[in-house]
Amino acid sequence: MASIRSRVFGAHVRPLQLDLADLSSLKTAVDRLGLDHLDVVVHNAGVALDEPPRRETEDGHELMFGTNHLGHFALTQWLVPPAVRGVGGPQRDGGKLRGAVGATGPGRSAVDPGSPQPFDFRPSPPGLRPARWSYTFESEAGGAAGCALSRPPVHAPATHRREGAPMKVQGSVAFVTGANRGLGEQFVRALFDAGAAKVYAGSRDPTRVTVPGAVPVAVDITDLESVHAAADQAQDVTLLINNAGLSTRADVLTADLDSFRLEFETHVLGTLAMSRAFAPVLGRNGGGAVVNVLSVLSWISITASAGYAAAKAAEWSMTNALRVALAEQGTQVTALHVSYLATELAAKVTAPKSDPAAVARATLDGVEAGLHEVLADDFSRQVQAALAVGPEALYPQLAGRH
Ligand SMILES: NC(=O)c1ccc[n+]([C@@H]2O[C@H](COP(=O)([O-])OP(=O)(O)OC[C@H]3O[C@@H](n4cnc5c(N)ncnc54)[C@H](OP(=O)(O)O)[C@@H]3O)[C@@H](O)[C@H]2O)c1
Repeated sequence: MASIRSRVFGAHVRPLQLDLADLSSLKTAVDRLGLDHLDVVVHNAGVALDEPPRRETEDGHELMFGTNHLGHFALTQWLVPPAVRGVGGPQRDGGKLRGAVGATGPGRSAVDPGSPQPFDFRPSPPGLRPARWSYTFESEAGGAAGCALSRPPVHAPATHRREGAPMKVQGSVAFVTGANRGLGEQFVRALFDAGAAKVYAGSRDPTRVTVPGAVPVAVDITDLESVHAAADQAQDVTLLINNAGLSTRADVLTADLDSFRLEFETHVLGTLAMSRAFAPVLGRNGGGAVVNVLSVLSWISITASAGYAAAKAAEWSMTNALRVALAEQGTQVTALHVSYLATELAAKVTAPKSDPAAVARATLDGVEAGLHEVLADDFSRQVQAALAVGPEALYPQLAGRH
């Protein structure tokens, strides 16, 4: 709001609470506007989910379809009477809309576009995933509007998947940093369960590595000498898991800058140093893969852990660059985004936490599927989708503030 007002002199802007996924709420939202007439509607909001499983709105529609398509059409239905008044003048006052929807695609025969069905926003029956939806709206005043939307087949090869043969965990030789506890330890266990041939367990204190069969290696990722010594010792690695991390809980206003420095030294520079030291090793061994353990806080910050979030955001950016740079040599780079895990790092957090063992398994599945990013929980998926909407979607406390 403040940004619009600063750029558009004299703009009258006011917020409207609107949930496109809640079809039954849209009329009330429009009524609340109390519009006499309307000239332009810009349908901009949308949801983009990367991965099945299917998610549904309260009304039982597939979430993206229900929000991006049905939500906008329902909103149009309630907005068009004032829009007709705005464009057509008083003689068209009260132009009421009827709508129609048809679906064509596998599993359903084409609906004759000339004889539309009543538009009632019914969810598609289970199993029906039409490849093409069409809509027709007719106003009693004689106007008509139509639209045809194509949706990609649900299992189409997605752009977020890497081309080429994905990494196989079975038979791989892995190196995990921060492997003496928490998520790192669970990665070591999950790697063995998935058939890894050898697992190097990197730790600042290798005597604390407890998983049977793992090869303990001393490594402090903030110490270049130690990083190079580890790479020299593990020349057969095909899968590098940059897991080591910490949280200083550095507050954005009050924490000393050294806390911020330590976060960046560890998450950004430490991970970069490991990736650079192991890149030639991976290249020589056929390409392989790198996993960078990021966070949902790469995409959303909290003031009380601003140092951590800033470092994870920078690590995300660095990971994106690494993915592009290493694609040349056939090395896959997978980022893990996850919110709270039940580990020491989040010991003081009382919010729900994911099981690190399950997250480690899901990440390895993502690696084998050739994913660029693994989003391990709903919150990470929601935050990623909200990024496209803007700060007010991520930080509700900003709503209505200038
Ligand atoms: N826990 C969460 O809620 C959460 C959420 C999202 C992402 N993550 C990320 O998940 C990863 C693992 O964290 P965790 O939850 O398992 O935390 P954790 O239980 O505290 O384990 C952190 C591990 O990283 C190691 N480490 C820290 N600094 C290091 C350094 N300079 N060199 C080498 N090892 C170092 C620690 O070694 P020491 O034992 O020697 O300290 C420990 O093994 C981190 O990248 C973290 O940011 C965690």
